Amino acid sequence: MSVTKPLPHDTALEHVTGRARYVDDIPAPADCLHLCFGLSAVAAGTITGMDLDSVRQAPGVVAVLTAEDLPHANDVSPSAHDEPLLADGTVHYVGQPVFLVVADSHLAARKAAALGKVQVAEDTPILTIEDALAADSRFEDGPRIYAKGDVDDALAAAPHRLTGRLDMGGQEHFYLEGQVALAMPGESDMVVHSSSQHPTEIQHKVAEALGVPFHGVRVEVRRMGGGFGGKESQGNALAVACAVAAQVTGRPCKMRYDRDDDFIITGKRHDARVDYDAGFDDQGRIRAVDFTHYFRCGWAMDLSLPVADRAMLHADNAYDLPHARITSHRLKTNTQSATAFRGFGGPQGMVGIERVMDHIAHRLGLDPATVRARNYYPSALSICEQKKPGTTPYGMAVTDFILDGMTEKLLADCDYQARRAAVADWNAANPILKKGIAFSPVKFGISFTLTQLNQAGALVQIYSDGSVLINHGGTEMGQGLFQKVAQVAATTLGVARDAIRPSATATDKVPNTSATAASSGSDLNGMAVRDACLKLRARLCDHLGDADAVFEDGTVRSKGRAMSFADLAQDAWAARVSLSATGFYATPDIAWDRIKGQGRPFYYFAYGASVSEVVIDTLTGENRTLRVDILHDCGTSLNPALDLGQIEGGYVQGAGWLTTEELVWDDAGRLRTHAPTTYKIPACSDRPDVFNVALWDAPNPADTIYRSKAVGEPPFMHGISTFLALSDAVAACGPHYPDLQAPATAEEVWRAVARAQGSETG
Ligand code: MTE
Ligand code: MOS
Repeated sequence: MSVTKPLPHDTALEHVTGRARYVDDIPAPADCLHLCFGLSAVAAGTITGMDLDSVRQAPGVVAVLTAEDLPHANDVSPSAHDEPLLADGTVHYVGQPVFLVVADSHLAARKAAALGKVQVAEDTPILTIEDALAADSRFEDGPRIYAKGDVDDALAAAPHRLTGRLDMGGQEHFYLEGQVALAMPGESDMVVHSSSQHPTEIQHKVAEALGVPFHGVRVEVRRMGGGFGGKESQGNALAVACAVAAQVTGRPCKMRYDRDDDFIITGKRHDARVDYDAGFDDQGRIRAVDFTHYFRCGWAMDLSLPVADRAMLHADNAYDLPHARITSHRLKTNTQSATAFRGFGGPQGMVGIERVMDHIAHRLGLDPATVRARNYYPSALSICEQKKPGTTPYGMAVTDFILDGMTEKLLADCDYQARRAAVADWNAANPILKKGIAFSPVKFGISFTLTQLNQAGALVQIYSDGSVLINHGGTEMGQGLFQKVAQVAATTLGVARDAIRPSATATDKVPNTSATAASSGSDLNGMAVRDACLKLRARLCDHLGDADAVFEDGTVRSKGRAMSFADLAQDAWAARVSLSATGFYATPDIAWDRIKGQGRPFYYFAYGASVSEVVIDTLTGENRTLRVDILHDCGTSLNPALDLGQIEGGYVQGAGWLTTEELVWDDAGRLRTHAPTTYKIPACSDRPDVFNVALWDAPNPADTIYRSKAVGEPPFMHGISTFLALSDAVAACGPHYPDLQAPATAEEVWRAVARAQGSETG
């Protein structure tokens, strides 16, 4: 069986030897033109004039386009049609594309774009969450509220109560391959190569911009050098710009953002503020909690509503909250339009309740791991034994809860109790260097919350030599989707993995696809490919006149005879049997009303747990992560090697978000951290000195592809235990709760030490 084998990424060798082709590596046709946007230098205002003569006269420039020159739709929004490709009379953030330069080289386009002069009558920009609240600048009419029980009464009646506030920063995706697109005008269609998680949306936006039906655009994606949510919608602008310029000039057009431009133009993770008011008993059990989420969405809607929704849907994380209310403000600001990023709002929601748990434990002087376990949802096991399942604040019964068992195993395996005692001893003996240790669980809902997106298609072709070409709607961004789905095809057809070749994602092979997102790539596309393979097998069985033929290891056994899969393919072809099939899958059992906040948005939950240990220097705030232990639930893993990679990478990215990665805007709304010199992502040396990752290998009770679970996003939230460990180390410095804010940079850790000690900081 090919599934469950720890095979390497299907193009690992190509990645490490540099042979893997990304969009920028596709040999460009000789007459290819190159594009660059001219950007707004101010955050808000009305355009009063543009002087682009020097741009037009610059060497190598072929054309300069503004909004008025666009032949059809001027829109690259994935949601509300509120995002023009080129500014249309007004500008809304520093970095907004205003005009488009088409030149004969990448450098010529960039140099020319810098020469443009855009006159703007400036407005006072709305930059921060506080600015937006004061101006009531928001998406949707008012806040969205999901609630369960009677929060106000339960809060008033609780034996203990505390309130607090946590600000958390955004995050730049920092995919290694920046945004890029290449458009080639064909005889009667436009072919677009794009680094995109969502080829179908690229197809739609390009078609609207060209004024052609969807069938007039073909989008192909072989791979991305990372997407992380940043290529769900943020590639639209480049693809549309290339296609429009290609239509106008009749020549192929290519565009890639320079890294600084990529930072300045594209959306990032939403920074957010979470206010909390919690009531609890002597044991630390929550009676009621009231959360207020403030999400800074930037200038256009993009995917902000579902992102903020998902934050609300993860405000409970692993905990059975008897009374809960989540109020969510989606604020409109003159900054980059915040977008999807691994976890899609889930991490922000989850950090909120984890902070509450931490705060309660500190108040009561209890072990935070104990407080957490006391608040867990009833386990799947206890539900079998007649206990009632817990219900989320959005009315979904949690029937597959396994964190009780996982927590017990992880805490035992990593020696949590003894190490907690050792940390306390260390802290008693060391006045300057303080250690901290923390545990945190993850429960992450799997499915797109927009129910209609939970569908996938596939095309599987068996050639007469027995080789198999598979295609599906999912895109490869490094996560290993193509390998997993190829393993599914190999297993279903009973052939060697080598007999299967995954082909580039293309809108003319499988139509109407969803973005590869919400961690659902292998769940959806694995099932669709399996469906197609089962159809082909059934046809081959018909041909053999044997419904019980056995397909295994490239051999087909039927009626006492054995033949190779290749011979059977040849034989079936000669008998005029169709050897290509489409497959389809739609996730069952989900229904969700996002306005009411009620339903079953998720097919199942993925679980995980982690323990982090850190040390801080109380004089400087500098810190190191000493050890991280993770136990993560992948159901029956389709590929344990790839899953391990996802867990390690997810954790590191999550820890980066909450520690060193800091985005800074100045008072004029200019992003000042737009390169690796000023924006610090984790490096190899930031990987914990001791890093133990294990899979909790138990079949998914939901009927997913070979009982596996989605793994793309959930491990990101293991980074929360590192943040909490830093908070624990700071708390060792004094009597007060440190109120550590995120990201916990060295400066912030240093400030929190002073807060814990009760001393003033400058
Ligand atoms: N892993 C790598 N190497 N590169 C990526 O861009 N994106 C993440 C995750 N893991 C990403 C990744 C995100 S945001 C998602 S939603 C999932 O992969 C998407 O792929 P999947 O649905 O196949 O898991
Ligand atoms: Mo992932 S944020 O759903 O692309």
